[in-house]
Amino acid sequence: MKDNKQIGIYKAYLKEHLSKKRYNHSLNVANAAVMLAKKYGGDADKAYTAGLLHDIAKEMPAQEQLAIVKRSSLDVCEVETAAVPLFHAIAGAELVQELFGIRDMEIIKAIRYHTVACGGMSKLSVIIYMADLISEDRDYKDVARMRKLADKNLERAMCEALRFSISDSVAKGNTIPLSTLEAYNEYIKFKK
Ligand SMILES: [Fe+2]
Ligand SMILES: [Fe+2]
Repeated sequence: MKDNKQIGIYKAYLKEHLSKKRYNHSLNVANAAVMLAKKYGGDADKAYTAGLLHDIAKEMPAQEQLAIVKRSSLDVCEVETAAVPLFHAIAGAELVQELFGIRDMEIIKAIRYHTVACGGMSKLSVIIYMADLISEDRDYKDVARMRKLADKNLERAMCEALRFSISDSVAKGNTIPLSTLEAYNEYIKFKK
């Protein structure tokens, strides 16, 4: 991926506002997103930008994230305003508009839905959701299986990822945003 001036500005901001570990994760997600975009006919430049910026708000204090969520013009459901780990995706989608003037709704939505997913996801949104799960720094139990699946069939990988995410939320007794259920209902037809 060519490092143009704009990408340099994004990286400088992330370096200043994220831990080394999270910055490295951001680079890895951007690279995984480009790999998936090339494989599945997505826009590699948009994939790099969205992947790089997806966790831009992750290390802001939760109260600051929530303040951004509350003034967001994006669709936000009640479940999301009550779950701290979900704030950063919405706040991030706002921040990239405010800080960098990003107006591309595909990029904004890919960042906004990278944790919860939604119905009618664009290819870019699916790519960022999956890239976040298979990036090089990930080491959860099923990561090898997920990488393999993402390499073979993007829809099936998405289906498995959503099944895992929802059953994990149920097991932990967490709430589930409606948009996640909408994505699940769309992707369950790709079940093996
Ligand atoms: Fe995230
Ligand atoms: Fe992430």
